[in-house]
Amino acid sequence: MDSTDAVPAVPAASAVPAPILAARGVSKVYGGQRGLGVRALADVDVSIAEGATVGIVGESGSGKSTLARLLMALETPTTGEIRYRGEVVSGLPERRLRSFRRRVQIVFQDPMSSLDPRMRVHDILAEPLRALDAGDERTRVPELLDAVGLPRTSARLYPHEFSGGQRQRIAIARALGPMPEVLVADEPVSALDVSVRAQILNLLKRLIGEFSLTLVFISHDMAVVRHLCDEVVVLYRGEIVETGETDQIYARPRHEYTRALLAAVPALGHLPTPPGGAAA
Ligand SMILES: Nc1ncnc2c1ncn2[C@@H]1O[C@H](COP(=O)(O)OP(=O)(O)OP(=O)(O)O)[C@@H](O)[C@H]1O
Ligand SMILES: [Mg+2]
Repeated sequence: MDSTDAVPAVPAASAVPAPILAARGVSKVYGGQRGLGVRALADVDVSIAEGATVGIVGESGSGKSTLARLLMALETPTTGEIRYRGEVVSGLPERRLRSFRRRVQIVFQDPMSSLDPRMRVHDILAEPLRALDAGDERTRVPELLDAVGLPRTSARLYPHEFSGGQRQRIAIARALGPMPEVLVADEPVSALDVSVRAQILNLLKRLIGEFSLTLVFISHDMAVVRHLCDEVVVLYRGEIVETGETDQIYARPRHEYTRALLAAVPALGHLPTPPGGAAA
């Protein structure tokens, strides 16, 4: 147990910087005593370097969302640990946990259930700013709407007054409010019409650059991951079966499960960049 260092020591000069977020030997069992419940994750190691765009792929039930919740410290692992810049996140003192909450934000699949229907967009965006003491809502809310390409007048409206794609823009704006370093996106386009998926993906791509975000992007769609991510982690029944650079995994998948996932992609050409969409 080392309880001495409040700040992790500066690593010795090295080509490999410490990861911004990491899972070490992480398992998660839901319900029952160990071994009797559902084993959602088993002995998972993930290292996310600052500035990386990491795709987490796998079929339904493979443990993707569980890993996301653990990385966000919304749940605690059954075994193993999650570290943020070298610090174990479970058991962080209140003040440091708040700072962690600002630095790691999430966007969920379904903006209709993640946005409170009784709140105006202004309050939806202002809420995390107030809770985390993360800036002046009068200036930040219009800036956030600008950033995601929504008119500033949207602030007065309610979620149901927007399309699915626009609602996901609101959810993204809300996540960006506290100026996170890491954005976790759990199937952020899966609930959207195919026609607006490319727009939201291109928006994410632009925001990653603009705000120097580290991205953890969860998807069961290998084509979407290829569009956004430099690295891929393949989960199968709660275990990592393959990990590496996206291009290499696409060119030479080593695990048969990865090959099966790739074979399930009908065509890699269905994500065109809309004309004049993403600014160059
Ligand atoms: N709160 C929970 N209580 C009990 N079991 C759970 C809970 N959350 C997840 N599980 C189980 O853990 C396993 C992994 O679930 P998880 O939601 O992480 O998968 P996923 O890869 O995100 O799937 P999907 O693609 O459908 O979103 C599944 O068997 C699921 O039923
Ligand atoms: Mg999920």
